[in-house]
Amino acid sequence: MKQAHLFSLPENTIYFCSHSLGLQSKSAHLQIQQGLQEWSQSGANAWHRAKWIDLPQKIGASIAPLIGARENEVIVTDNTTLNIMKLLLSALELNSSRKVILTEKDNFPTDLYIAENVADLHNKTCKAVSAEDILNEMDENVAVILLTHVNYRSANMHDMEKINQKAKELGILTLWDLSHSVGVMPLYCSKLNVDFAVGCTYKYLNGGPGSPSFLYVNQKHHRKVKSSIHGWMGHNKPFDFSPQYQSANGVNSYLTGTPSILSMKALEGALALYEHIDLQALQHKSLLLTDYLIAQCKEHAPQLECISSSSLRGSHVGFFHYNAQAISNALIAEGVIIDYREPNLIRFGISPLVIDFEDIDKAVSILSSIMKSNHTLSEEILLLSQQ
Ligand SMILES: Cc1ncc(COP(=O)(O)O)c(C=O)c1O
Repeated sequence: MKQAHLFSLPENTIYFCSHSLGLQSKSAHLQIQQGLQEWSQSGANAWHRAKWIDLPQKIGASIAPLIGARENEVIVTDNTTLNIMKLLLSALELNSSRKVILTEKDNFPTDLYIAENVADLHNKTCKAVSAEDILNEMDENVAVILLTHVNYRSANMHDMEKINQKAKELGILTLWDLSHSVGVMPLYCSKLNVDFAVGCTYKYLNGGPGSPSFLYVNQKHHRKVKSSIHGWMGHNKPFDFSPQYQSANGVNSYLTGTPSILSMKALEGALALYEHIDLQALQHKSLLLTDYLIAQCKEHAPQLECISSSSLRGSHVGFFHYNAQAISNALIAEGVIIDYREPNLIRFGISPLVIDFEDIDKAVSILSSIMKSNHTLSEEILLLSQQ
């Protein structure tokens, strides 16, 4: 299952950051080169000769099986932030008599900002509650529920099936942010009757820095709702250059302006890795590896407090320590690439395509020596953290 040879990685590093920015795959590199060649050989003609114009739909169709959707339900465009906005606007249009956007207090900040933003623009209320209170807070006032499936800090995972089912019973629309789920587990958007979804492609999908986001709209809504952001690429016939806007159909209406082709090419190459991957086996390995990391840290670095659930969990693990920033800096200096999030959180992201059990052994051994040599963490490391 481990495919580390397919990625570029500096020597003597162990990469635990695929939850933030996935590694560069050789196939992504090759596709960017191909894009550069198409540009140099054809210039503007490449839009049609090299079919650049079709990439948002073509790549959307490659992402569809990763989220359990139909090919015509997914498109790749813009960033996750903007796609959340587009889909919240659509949800409010479909459920216009209802007043509330329901979300989780610990959602990723951009989700919270956009939910507040859209609520303000439309004279609605954004209600942000704790994860435990979500089911209780779902009622007939709620138009749409916006949740991130796997929490960006703790990796704790919502029970998508249960929440979706209750939402259907109450006429609430669902919008799932799948940024920390896609590419490490099977997802079932059609089967669970999810209304809308978005996600980043630069994390476990390895699409590259700033690679475009995907957006999913259940086909049952395609006739009823279109994007309320009217860009020329979302026009039914963009190359007619008509002064009157006429929306394209289905997910195509959610395109806005010119797509970033080199980023799209990188993503297209990165997704080639998923053509033969069994997502259930991938999730199985992810859970074994994260379980192993948690157990090893408990034994060899017991000062760290694991905040990730023991069962419903994504593919990263979060640990609290009062000196987490200094520990993170020391790990990175030793080639263990993790990330630090305020306040006091170290995140280990485990892509089962990149990480294996022996990588965890090596990383925990380095972590354990850092903890031992600095039980109250030395001035030296503290100084390092302030640089
Ligand atoms: C859960 C989640 N949603 C949204 C985003 C932001 O996405 P973008 O910067 O593409 O808008 C992130 C970024 O890490 C994220 O973790």
